[in-house]
Amino acid sequence: MTAPSEGARSRRAGSTRRQFLLGGAVAGVGAAAAIGVDLALNSREDGAKPVSAPMNGEQTVPFFGTHQAGIDTAAQAHGVFLGLDLREDVDRGGLIRLLRILTDDAARLTQGRPALADSEPELALSPARLTITFGFGPGLVARAGGTGPSWLAPLPAFGVDRLRPEFSDGDLLIQIAGDDPLTVAHATRMLLKDARGFASIRWTQQGFRRAYGTERPGTTMRNLFGQVDGTTNPEPGTTDFDEVVWSAGGWLDGGTGMVLRRIRMDLDKWDRLDRGGRDASVGRTLADGAPLTGTAEFDEPDFEAKTSLGFPVIPTFAHIRRARGDGSERIFRRAYNYDERPAGSEVSESGLLFVSFQADIDRQFIPMQRRLDELDLLNEWTVPIGSAVFAVPPGCAEDGFIGETLLA
Ligand code: HEM
Repeated sequence: MTAPSEGARSRRAGSTRRQFLLGGAVAGVGAAAAIGVDLALNSREDGAKPVSAPMNGEQTVPFFGTHQAGIDTAAQAHGVFLGLDLREDVDRGGLIRLLRILTDDAARLTQGRPALADSEPELALSPARLTITFGFGPGLVARAGGTGPSWLAPLPAFGVDRLRPEFSDGDLLIQIAGDDPLTVAHATRMLLKDARGFASIRWTQQGFRRAYGTERPGTTMRNLFGQVDGTTNPEPGTTDFDEVVWSAGGWLDGGTGMVLRRIRMDLDKWDRLDRGGRDASVGRTLADGAPLTGTAEFDEPDFEAKTSLGFPVIPTFAHIRRARGDGSERIFRRAYNYDERPAGSEVSESGLLFVSFQADIDRQFIPMQRRLDELDLLNEWTVPIGSAVFAVPPGCAEDGFIGETLLA
């Protein structure tokens, strides 16, 4: 087949293609990007050199700063979580060397630059909002000779738990998140290669959200139950978020506490539940995530509202009622979906990499998880099978390294 000439193709396709791109851009990216697209297409029609619209692959998230990136960063499409165990002979000096190397790798890779001695430097050139975030388990803090916050320990056992060691605990957490899976895989490999002399892999977990560009930025994610998941969440950039998330005082000042729970979702059992039951289990509709007492996703749920028969519209067992309690404990959720090879006769092995950040896990997360353990209809279809807690140290300046407040 002969391709039409570039000029003919762009003239014929120009207006419809521009309308299509503009429609998408105005809706999803904003007017400034739309003007960029328009200029690019116009200049092409004028015969001038085409100006390419910015690509998401070129986008970077700053690495250095007061806080580590990857927490208040708008969640990227792909997330890899690595749990590493330190080798026995790694002492405080070894830890400093390890964290200096990993900080240097992360500072380069997140900005679209190859790591030192990068074996595939071309793979580093499209950062696509890559962030690399480090968290310290109790073992690492002990090895550093430091004292962690009281909550830096495995969570207390909950009745719903069926925890497996291969998805739990660990000395060092690395969260690698980005909009491009190839970039994420390359960064993962570079970090693991550089950590190899100091630590071994305890577990790796991979998660995903919608691909970049599928939905408008800012759309709340859906999990594999089809639920809109993440509606009631502190808003990054607000004082509310800062109070919920950032720890104060000591070496963790400007850092946070991270809970990572691998929660299996029984999709085969969920299939047997009707739509009304599904909505009731959470207290929100599957259609658009609106509370059962409202019509739009961000309507405030009315927990007092009653049906004509006198029952609460948002049932007593509903997940949002139980999670909220009296509203005094708050956390910031930043979850990813997972979907693995099913075992036996099942057709799915799926769930949520539940990730939450909070300043104080004892005060914020544990009372909430206790309440959900006691009563939450969602427990019928969900089982926590992995659990880990990390202290996420603050960010650092260009001449520093992640963990310096604990180690330097
Ligand atoms: C697989 C397990 C889980 C699923 C499928 C799930 C799903 C949901 C959904 C659909 C919502 C409503 C929309 C929203 O505001 O995000 C929600 C809200 C929430 N969930 Fe979960 N969740 C799970 C586990 C957990 C866990 C383990 C916790 C904490 C211990 C938690 C804490 C919350 C909180 C705090 C809210 C907001 C409640 C409010 O409106 O104030 N969830 N979850």
